[in-house]
Amino acid sequence: MKSCVGIIGLGSMGASLARNLARHGYKVSVYNRTFEKAEEFVKDNPDDGFVLCRTLEDLASSLPAPRVIMSVITAGSPTKAALEDLSKYLSAGDLVIDCANSFYKDSMALGKEMEEKGILFADCGVSGGKMGALLGPSMMFGGSREAWDLCQGVIKDACAKAKDGEPCAARLGPVGSGHFVKMIHNGIEYALMGAIAEIYDLFRREGFSAEECAQIFKKWDEGDLHSYLIEITGKVLAHIDAKTQKPFVDVLKDETRMNGTGTWTVLSALELGSSAPSVGEAVFERIISSEKELRSAFKPAPAPEISLDSSDAMQALYLASAIIYSEGFDVLEAASRKYDWNLDYSEIARIWEAGCIIRSDFLPKISEAFKKDPSLPSLLAFPAFEKIEEENIQALRRVVARGVLGAVSCAVLESALSYFDELTHPLPLNLLAAQRDYFGAHGYERADEPGFFHTEWEEGGQEVKRQ
Ligand code: 6PG
Repeated sequence: MKSCVGIIGLGSMGASLARNLARHGYKVSVYNRTFEKAEEFVKDNPDDGFVLCRTLEDLASSLPAPRVIMSVITAGSPTKAALEDLSKYLSAGDLVIDCANSFYKDSMALGKEMEEKGILFADCGVSGGKMGALLGPSMMFGGSREAWDLCQGVIKDACAKAKDGEPCAARLGPVGSGHFVKMIHNGIEYALMGAIAEIYDLFRREGFSAEECAQIFKKWDEGDLHSYLIEITGKVLAHIDAKTQKPFVDVLKDETRMNGTGTWTVLSALELGSSAPSVGEAVFERIISSEKELRSAFKPAPAPEISLDSSDAMQALYLASAIIYSEGFDVLEAASRKYDWNLDYSEIARIWEAGCIIRSDFLPKISEAFKKDPSLPSLLAFPAFEKIEEENIQALRRVVARGVLGAVSCAVLESALSYFDELTHPLPLNLLAAQRDYFGAHGYERADEPGFFHTEWEEGGQEVKRQ
């Protein structure tokens, strides 16, 4: 039996992680706020040797020092309250790892609070859903080297393994970086899901059935687009509702919920002066989907006919996905600069190769790109990605145009395309600079001469140099 680990929270993720650790030979102490749930969990898994704890104090005293405790409860105030309470029973040098989808700034604040008490604190993004937590998630660790040394054996045992057998877990930087990277993972997840949904909608509007769409996604999963999200799209679309015998997707409302990590990604990008427009559109699409009153104020408009070339659709989704990943890495770079995290983008892509929701055949390519050139200004500027752009850009343009003409909202695909065009073509912001100078005397820079200028627009139109 290996050393002990504590788990707080036996919801679907916590319970799966506890079973995962037990199967790797760890003696796991488990605690849940509702004791009956913990009792039932231990009863349901009699062979896993769980140590049942009634209180946080029991949990602490069941573990040898230095203690390693993983918390998998709802992010925000529940996590803060439980960990503050737990800290009363811990000693200097013990380690608490927050494995929830917590906001990175909350993790930084809690980390400071714990540090003042001499307790080690780490934030660990865990991706892969319930099955991932059980069979091996991708784990993004933020914390001190001391904290990592204390728990890396446990984390590397529990996490997913890439094709080459390497663990999909790593220490990415200090406290805050683990949850920041997980937040960006989720932002990318939102945008990829949005792009897939838009392509699906185009096919349905062309007249394809859910089953026909399922076959298309299944085929795509065998090619360049091979990924977890494409794989589950094929499976979901092929699923038949037991109650109605109709395709499952056709009996669901066209609205979705969210827990907030996509919104945080967009807010954080804005705060860092970075851009993630495809993530933004994916969040807005989800918001609009749930604005029932607003949507019901409109009569369904007539739908123009559309026709879609399936290989164009595949190529469009392929390039849009590359752009979406690139947006995510741009925001990571902005955060790394601001917080001095020195993030290793190649390593981040590597630990996303297995276990997590956005795993795909893109990840080894991304890891390779940043390995070859760690200071790459944008993934899209790497030769292998420039080739993807060259080969697929016309298809993306055609698909977006078909969506626009056919009244199929393709906001994520469109914003990925616009982001690419903004990077690769001149922008009309010279006009905007002149307008700002006209009404606000804000000044502008000329392309042909250094310095800062202002034009006396309504007083003769002379230009004055300000510095
Ligand atoms: C993961 C998932 C996971 C969760 C998302 C869903 O990486 O395992 O991203 O964290 O399923 O939070 O997010 P929404 O509820 O916001 O869609």
